Order: sequence, then C-alpha cells, then structure tokens
Amino acid sequence: MTIALGVLVSGSGSNLQAIMDRVADGSLDADIRLVIANNKDALGLERARLAGLPTAVVLHRDFPAREDFDRELVRLLLAARAEFVALAGFMRILTPEFLIPFAGRVINIHPALLPACPGLRAQGQQRDHGVRLAGCTVHFVDEEMDHGPIIIQAAVPAFPDDDEALLGARILEMEHRIYPQALQWLAQGRVQVSGRQVLVRDASRTMGATWTNPPLETPFDL
Ligand code: GRF
Repeated sequence: MTIALGVLVSGSGSNLQAIMDRVADGSLDADIRLVIANNKDALGLERARLAGLPTAVVLHRDFPAREDFDRELVRLLLAARAEFVALAGFMRILTPEFLIPFAGRVINIHPALLPACPGLRAQGQQRDHGVRLAGCTVHFVDEEMDHGPIIIQAAVPAFPDDDEALLGARILEMEHRIYPQALQWLAQGRVQVSGRQVLVRDASRTMGATWTNPPLETPFDL
C-alpha cells in the first residue's frame, strides 16, 4: 500500500528531506501529495520544490483565528487527497478544526523521549537537565502538545560536555531514521492504536538489550 501524505513544515525540513529520500530509494511507500509551509522562507519549502513536489504557503498571520488557519490547511490537504499528515518541524498547535477531519492520521516527531521534555527547545531541556539518555519520539497528534500515542522512540547517549547543538545533531540523526520507519509501518497498515498503546504488527522485539550510559562496569555487567 502507498500512504498519501501531506507534510507540514516551518523550518529547515531535514525530516521532510529524510522522508523524500526514503521515498526516492523505495524504502518508504508514500506519495507526498502536498508540502505546506507557514513560513515562506522555510528551507523545507525549497527542498520540496527542488524535489518537484506540490507546495503551498499558508501564513497563519493572514487568518483572524487559529481555527480559520486550520480550516485552510484542511481544505488544501483534502483537495490534494492527502490521507495522512506528517508534521515535520511545524511550529503551530493544531485545533480540533484540523484534528477532527484527520483524526488518528496526524503524526509528529519530537526531539525527546516523551513524555519527558515536551514543548520548545527539547534538546536544550535535556541537556540542561543532565539526562544520560536523550532521544526522539514519533507519535500520533492529539489536542495536547507532544502528547498522543507513541509509535516509535530512539535513544541516544547524552554526555556532560555536550552542548545543545551537538546533542541536537545526535538526536536529529535518529529522527531521520525513525520518522520514515513509522510512516512505512502506517503505509503497510501495521499500526493499531488502543488507548495510549500503539501496536506495530510483526515488529521485532529485543528483550535482552539493556543500554546504559555510561556503560555498566564489572561486576554489574554480568
Ligand atoms: C526536529 O528536531 C523535530 O523533532 C522538531 O523540529 C525539528 C525540525 O527539524 N519537531 P527539521 O525542520 O525537520 O530539520
């Protein structure tokens, strides 16, 4: 199956690029129907144009209320026949005007291991907190920010001498891997949601692996 995808961006669009690259190499069965930016200078928009994808710019400032902006996004996405919507660095909170028509079909990536560190500057929050395992999360979007059911997470080590940029880059590398993977599971129809639990049918389980940072040392790592 192929997933008909709309992608919303506000900035650099490196996750969009990762998605486009995986479509191009055949590992993600997606048809990107439309890329919408709420910022006309978004690099993500340029990336989409370079790839020959349909694009639109919708400036939230042009709309009197969030709901009006959201209705315009929905109108464009439905006209493009997008079935799922991937938020890829989209810096606006969506209202029910958007989430009801696309219920259960809006996905987001967040640069932290949710529910830790939701909201802005998640990389900096993790760094400031001194976490040992940072990471990223792909999740369904609900009306609360960075909150819906989790599809996949990846952990990366955080080191005391990391600055925010270094930690952010380490996280971003994993983002580019897990976002296309989550979308491919959706394309394959393997994702079932039951309350907060997301079941990916036939996903492998590795029960034995325990990863610590710093690594355990003898006699603990028996
Ligand atoms: C990523 O860190 C993503 O997790 C967050 O915003 C950033 C977007 O980066 N939601 P990019 O625009 O995909 O490069």
